Amino acid sequence: MQKDLLKLLDLTGQEINEILDVADQMKYSQKHGIPHDYLRGKTLAMIFEKNSTRTRVSFEVGMYQLGGHALFLSGKESQIGRGEPVEDTARVLSRYCDGIMIRTFAQEEVEELARCSTIPVINGLTDFCHPCQVLADLMTVREKMTRLEGLKLAFIGDGNNMANSLIVGGLKCGMYVSVACPEGYEPDGRVLDFAKTVTGPKFQLVRTPAEAVKDADVVITDVWASMGQEGEREARKKAFAGYCVDADLMKLAHPGCMVQHCLPAHKGEEIAADVFEAHADEIFEEAENRLHAQKAVLYLLMRD
Ligand code: CP
Ligand code: NVA
Repeated sequence: MQKDLLKLLDLTGQEINEILDVADQMKYSQKHGIPHDYLRGKTLAMIFEKNSTRTRVSFEVGMYQLGGHALFLSGKESQIGRGEPVEDTARVLSRYCDGIMIRTFAQEEVEELARCSTIPVINGLTDFCHPCQVLADLMTVREKMTRLEGLKLAFIGDGNNMANSLIVGGLKCGMYVSVACPEGYEPDGRVLDFAKTVTGPKFQLVRTPAEAVKDADVVITDVWASMGQEGEREARKKAFAGYCVDADLMKLAHPGCMVQHCLPAHKGEEIAADVFEAHADEIFEEAENRLHAQKAVLYLLMRD
């Protein structure tokens, strides 16, 4: 493992599977009351420049369960919001803390933070990617389907941070990945370039959800307007009409197909309420697995 978790592009498929193995162990230990306070006395600084429910709570609870402590820093209320350079924030936090989790807009800010910190940095979502979420998604799929290799993952909707991480994570774990998005809303070029390097017919970018979902083992979607794109909400609603994961679309998938959603969901937009409820157990298991997957990352990066 490298010093930081900045994006799944930096990891090998084997490293991703190793994190998932540790995540399974973390989940087992937590469920069976087996002590696992590997980070006793350690502190994680959590910088949030965007809203969060799951990421904040799962990192904070995860640090507590590992015997450590988490510190919430709001971008607005800290000096970061008043323009203190990232390189100085990195050097200061490195003197007090043992790790940093950051949720912000630009991927470059996270990369700069990591370059200037002597402690591990974990990406808790940028406009470019959401690696912790996708580790939890892959963990949930592997748990239910017993493997990832050879399964088909279909992503329907915006080629956003979730799509980017799912393409990279899915392909690195040997999955077939099919993405359906409207013109102009494609995944990031760096991710499409990576997909081209994967040998075999493993990645497909299509326009119709029906094409993407055909014979899928897991269908994943996300909001049409991500954080920071609130002003585009109405335009995006029009652009994404026809990209709703509904019961008719699900009929085209493999029988027993899973549905995942990172949440929060806009029911009636990217996902129909009945499909959401029919797959609620899988979706909330996915939310729970954020905790276990991130505890694995915290342990692997911050242990002595
Ligand atoms: N899925 C996810 O990252 O949720 P939050 O925005 O609530 O952290
Ligand atoms: N794509 C969404 C994910 C939220 C967890 C966003 O960036 O807002």
